[in-house]
Amino acid sequence: MNILFMGPPGAGKGTQAERIVAEFGIPHISTGDAFRLAMKEGTPLGLKAKEYVDQGLLVPDDVTNGIVRERLQQDDCKRGFLLDGYPRTLAQAEALDGMLKESGRRIDHVISLVVDRDMLLKRLTGRRICKSCGATYHILFNPPKQEGVCDKCGGELYQRSDDTEEKVGTRLDEYLSKTEPLLRYYRDQGLLREVNGEQEIDAVTAQITSILKGQAE
Ligand code: AP5
Ligand code: MG
Ligand code: ZN
Repeated sequence: MNILFMGPPGAGKGTQAERIVAEFGIPHISTGDAFRLAMKEGTPLGLKAKEYVDQGLLVPDDVTNGIVRERLQQDDCKRGFLLDGYPRTLAQAEALDGMLKESGRRIDHVISLVVDRDMLLKRLTGRRICKSCGATYHILFNPPKQEGVCDKCGGELYQRSDDTEEKVGTRLDEYLSKTEPLLRYYRDQGLLREVNGEQEIDAVTAQITSILKGQAE
């Protein structure tokens, strides 16, 4: 199954993706995670991405399309994949269509998580992430059992550098101007399903799972 997760920063794409890939046994491909890893390792891709990610701006399409193209060619994507946070522009969506067509694949589901702006701000400023395994927490909404420590692996939790109020504002503006128009592209193809991302985490997972299994009305 080939799935796209869309939605503004903080909508819960990563949180839900962790759960859905565990259920469906497919890889989780987050372009944001790929950029952060490259930035941490200081590779040429990381240095390029840093110029944009640190400002809350979208990384140029050619750079982003390149990493997705490479990732989708790997063997573990043959049984399906979940793309989280890609595509985010019409040019990326068209590039993705081309990549999939070349290999005889297509998108099966596009899930858009819908969350109000005020709630997004609260979520992003309270988010914490595990340095070792990448698991996501929230200091109020989804706290770890022990403050600052990952439940899953005991790793140290940190705050993303683009989760400040100022950068969140820029990221939301980028979403509204460049990514939200893409919803229409997928709606017109009959692929888009909107899910209320303001529900409890478990309720959102249940709704997405039933859509993917074809059980939703
Ligand atoms: P990326 O890492 O993808 O960031 P984003 O899109 O801004 O989304 P987030 O990861 O911030 O939010 P999320 O929806 O995953 O929410 P989460 O589950 O963590 O991209 C970062 C940057 O990389 C971009 O700004 C850009 O520069 C670059 N980039 C990436 N992809 C690109 C592309 N395709 N093109 C160009 N540039 C690209 O949840 C958030 C918080 O809320 C957590 O604390 C969580 O615990 C909590 N939470 C989640 N769900 C719930 C719930 N239901 N109830 C209560 N709390 C919840
Ligand atoms: Mg994420
Ligand atoms: Zn961890």
